[in-house]
Amino acid sequence: MIPFINVRAQREAYLSEFKQAEQEVLDSGCFIGGPQVQALETELAEFTGAKHAITCGSGTDALTIALLALGLEPEDEVIVPDFTFIAPAECVMRLGGIPKFADIDAETLQISVESIESLIGEKTRGIIAVNLFGQCAPYAEIRKCARANNLWLIEDSAQAFGAMQNGVPACTFGDISITSFYPAKPLGCYGDGGALFTANDELAKKIRLIANHGSQQRYIHEICGMNSRLDALQAAVLRVKLRHFKDELKKRSENASKYNEFFNAVPGIAPQKIAVGNTSTYAQYTVLADDRPAFLKQLENAGVPYCIHYPQPLHTQPCFKGLNQGIGNGNAIEACQKVVSLPMCAFTDVDEIIARLKKVM
Ligand SMILES: Cc1ncc(COP(=O)(O)O)c(C=O)c1O
Repeated sequence: MIPFINVRAQREAYLSEFKQAEQEVLDSGCFIGGPQVQALETELAEFTGAKHAITCGSGTDALTIALLALGLEPEDEVIVPDFTFIAPAECVMRLGGIPKFADIDAETLQISVESIESLIGEKTRGIIAVNLFGQCAPYAEIRKCARANNLWLIEDSAQAFGAMQNGVPACTFGDISITSFYPAKPLGCYGDGGALFTANDELAKKIRLIANHGSQQRYIHEICGMNSRLDALQAAVLRVKLRHFKDELKKRSENASKYNEFFNAVPGIAPQKIAVGNTSTYAQYTVLADDRPAFLKQLENAGVPYCIHYPQPLHTQPCFKGLNQGIGNGNAIEACQKVVSLPMCAFTDVDEIIARLKKVM
């Protein structure tokens, strides 16, 4: 059985480091916050170059906290990509805002700046750009557009912690940037976890306040916040993985190059294009297949697992249907009919996968 993501091989590779780090936390009696979480936040800030890195309970919480910190009000409109995981649109809607679904570029699959511009209106307050599948959205244009229209920008880098754009690290492009440490993410923990990044001292203060019940001083609550904290055990696991993360990114990139070489020679199958100036974490290695049912049959015959990220554009999800949007988002609609993601992590045996595919394709 080829695993889609080989978390067991990763655990075995760094087992003694994990065991020592986990034991230290268990013996310390400090399970929430404390030195492990503080050390991780320092390391995350160093890794990205962000002035502030603040951990929290999940990537979804990070988005919610970011929207609260930026002052989202009911009925405010926020532009989000139509083709992505539900979290950005869901968090806007949950807080009473209205997500406006932007189309994507047909090749890079990133949010389209043209489409963002077409959606800006009186009630638009901000943009959530997603670094889809591990490469950054086109930030030079997005930031220009946000500035020109007086909008805030959230960079959703749940899939792209560790990516670069023109030498600048992901998680530094938004007024607030966020990531997720969900176990399947390139830098994943052993449960839920997330982080927010910002260069703005005031926003950093607000973020910490919101994530901790609106409180700086114990039992004094300045605002109504929430409970969103990273466990010390998750922080300890992440610190071990962070030590190996650059090597893992290199291996992921080598694996992607092997896939690319193979699929570039297969008519009717095109790997997601990586834009000039971008590196990708390959949170997903995704191809566009003109005849997806036939390709899926081939993968099944070869015993290669796959996932469909994502089977439908967000505007068609039952929870957003009442918004009556997105029918013109042709690229997002087409991507949903063609995308297939293949096994990808630093421990994936891509040579074995390609050998199997060569027998059936
Ligand atoms: C683009 C994107 N944003 C946000 C999230 C939410 O992260 P989490 O699962 O940690 O809540 C995910 C998770 O899959 C994601 O892919």
